[in-house]
Amino acid sequence: MELIQRPRRLRGNETLRKMVRETRMDKSSLIYPLFVKEGTNIEEEIPSMAGQYRYSIDRLPYELERLQNAGVGSVMLFGIPEVKDEMGSGAYDPEGIVQKALRSAKKEFPDLYYITDVCMCEYTSHGHCGVLCGKEVENDKTLSLLAKTALSHVEAGADMVAPSDMMDGRVGAIRECLDTNGHKETPIMSYAVKYASAFYGPFRDAAGSAPSFGDRKSYQMDFHNKKEGMKEALMDIEEGADIIMVKPALAYHDLISEISKATNVPMAAYSVSGEYAMVKAASKMGWIDEEKIICEMAVGAYRAGAQIYITYFAKELAKFMEEGRIG
Ligand code: PBG
Repeated sequence: MELIQRPRRLRGNETLRKMVRETRMDKSSLIYPLFVKEGTNIEEEIPSMAGQYRYSIDRLPYELERLQNAGVGSVMLFGIPEVKDEMGSGAYDPEGIVQKALRSAKKEFPDLYYITDVCMCEYTSHGHCGVLCGKEVENDKTLSLLAKTALSHVEAGADMVAPSDMMDGRVGAIRECLDTNGHKETPIMSYAVKYASAFYGPFRDAAGSAPSFGDRKSYQMDFHNKKEGMKEALMDIEEGADIIMVKPALAYHDLISEISKATNVPMAAYSVSGEYAMVKAASKMGWIDEEKIICEMAVGAYRAGAQIYITYFAKELAKFMEEGRIG
């Protein structure tokens, strides 16, 4: 047999395989999502997310230290307030849970990079991502509250804000509000391409943020659509988004790939709670090799075009990257 092309030539040895690798990663691209709640001395495991915890502010430093030691430099904060109301006022309260957590964490760990999730659903009594008019989420009234929330996060020390609500025009509203208040340099990472997904189930359990009626389909995207994802990404870039996120990650590599090719901003992929929970559950049953699955899922997202990976497995991945097991 006279074969000229033999792809196997480049697979024969580990050194060679690493030399010709097309996807290279670094732990500086990892972001770890972190839940913070009111109270003291709390570090409670989230039942549907084994190994993930809700922390009270006084216990946060222990986790921040573990992250820093693992070489994970960036966190994304989610707040779980004591009380919720119709208007989600805890989201933009200067004494709200995220604001207080930021002030304390920044003091103790000034070298970490703090991103905040900007949304109303953890703070509204009805669990929707904006204010209601009857049974509908009122887009334009919600915008000013989101802008207020983002500003209060930045004033409390957030380095970057990440709106996840999926209201139309929120990136523009937040950009304008930050700019007029002297925060022209604070970047926005937009959850631009966010689908109405069952993969968020465990998160809603963790944050107590499931909607009390209906679903999020009137604002989050229909997962049958791809062009619409491109439209959301391009609109948000036009409104001033600095980084575009696709969420979830695992079932949406086509979006990561197309949008990263069509735009000139960094692309983030959020491997969400359901992805984490599935890996943990299958691994507990002994049905998969957890480490290998974590690595393969991460590499898949980067290979599709993500430069930033938001994951509950950030500490594990940082270690695997450090030890050269992937990347
Ligand atoms: C808030 C928000 C959600 C997630 C991130 N920000 C929940 C939702 O939209 O219902 C999900 C994250 C995850 O599942 O890990 N809107």
